[in-house]
Amino acid sequence: MTRAIRIHETGGPEVMRVEDVETGAPAAGQVLVAQRAIGVNFIDVYHRTGLYPVALPAVIGQEAAGVVEAVGPDVADLRVGDRVAYVGALGAYAERRVVAADRVVPVPSAIGDDVAAAAMLKGMTARYLLKDTTRVGPDDTIVVHAAAGGTGQLLVQWAKHLGARVLGVVSSDAKAEIVRALGADDVVVTLRDDLVERAKRLTDGRGVSVVYDSVGRDTFGRSIACLRPRGMLVVFGQSSGPVPPIDLGVLARASLYLTRPTLFTYVAARADLLASAADVFDAIAGGILSVSVSNRLPLERAADAHRALESRATTGATILLPHGA
Ligand SMILES: NC(=O)c1ccc[n+]([C@@H]2O[C@H](COP(=O)([O-])OP(=O)(O)OC[C@H]3O[C@@H](n4cnc5c(N)ncnc54)[C@H](OP(=O)(O)O)[C@@H]3O)[C@@H](O)[C@H]2O)c1
Repeated sequence: MTRAIRIHETGGPEVMRVEDVETGAPAAGQVLVAQRAIGVNFIDVYHRTGLYPVALPAVIGQEAAGVVEAVGPDVADLRVGDRVAYVGALGAYAERRVVAADRVVPVPSAIGDDVAAAAMLKGMTARYLLKDTTRVGPDDTIVVHAAAGGTGQLLVQWAKHLGARVLGVVSSDAKAEIVRALGADDVVVTLRDDLVERAKRLTDGRGVSVVYDSVGRDTFGRSIACLRPRGMLVVFGQSSGPVPPIDLGVLARASLYLTRPTLFTYVAARADLLASAADVFDAIAGGILSVSVSNRLPLERAADAHRALESRATTGATILLPHGA
């Protein structure tokens, strides 16, 4: 048995219950991981609320770091005692759990458990958005919404490293300070500043080449309006709610591109998962990414972690600690 956070119905943070659940022994192609740090991501909120349906009851959570405690038959490349992390395997909010070995990657000794759990999903997301969805470089000026958030901070830093000019968007002056310190060229505070006007001013009236929009419903229209001809809107999240159906004619204004990517498509193949994780860990070890783990809570306080994330009270990453904060 293991302690876990399980939901029996969808709803607010209160539906998350601390329960003892069976771990079971790892079957062929699986490993049992004793978890040391668990990453909290906005997708966990979507699973809890039912926006992204999961079979119930469910232990939610998508990523964690820990140590391999047992390996099932046919697992060749992992051994008991290995330090590992994984993403994209529902069931992470637990002290111990069985997980498919092909979703597990080794964690280099230079990377701590907290950082691995805080940065793997968010870091691999920043990576594919900047390097694979489109290739960002010195010719680009980009907009990053929720720039002080867990994923946003990594996007800002990596985009700067790739040579892009970055306009961050945040909801408060305190968050703006954080984003400026990460190297953003300019920061817009929503409700006070005009994002479209600022994006145009920064690009001599032309518009930006890429907008990374994880906010969704509240920002879609302004994001589209910021783009230069043939620019790309990357809607990769919906923290404010899903974008309603759109008229494709909005793209015809200037031959714009629109994509709605997800990490799990980009790292579905094991080779891509390993390469992507290695690139993120290298970027952290090499100082390209500084990972801010601003919020550490014991596993039992997962509901408080969700409340903080949903109320925009957090900056950087949140982790849950199975053995106390
Ligand atoms: N598609 C993918 O592959 C992928 C992968 C990872 C994450 N994501 C998405 O990326 C987004 C960020 O995830 P994260 O875990 O790093 O969270 P986060 O950005 O740390 O937290 C969400 C932030 O969104 C902003 N926000 C704007 N309107 C909001 C609203 N109505 N309610 C709550 N927050 C609002 C807030 O920043 P301000 O207060 O500054 O506005 C808030 O801090 C999520 O939408 C997530 O689904 C997508």
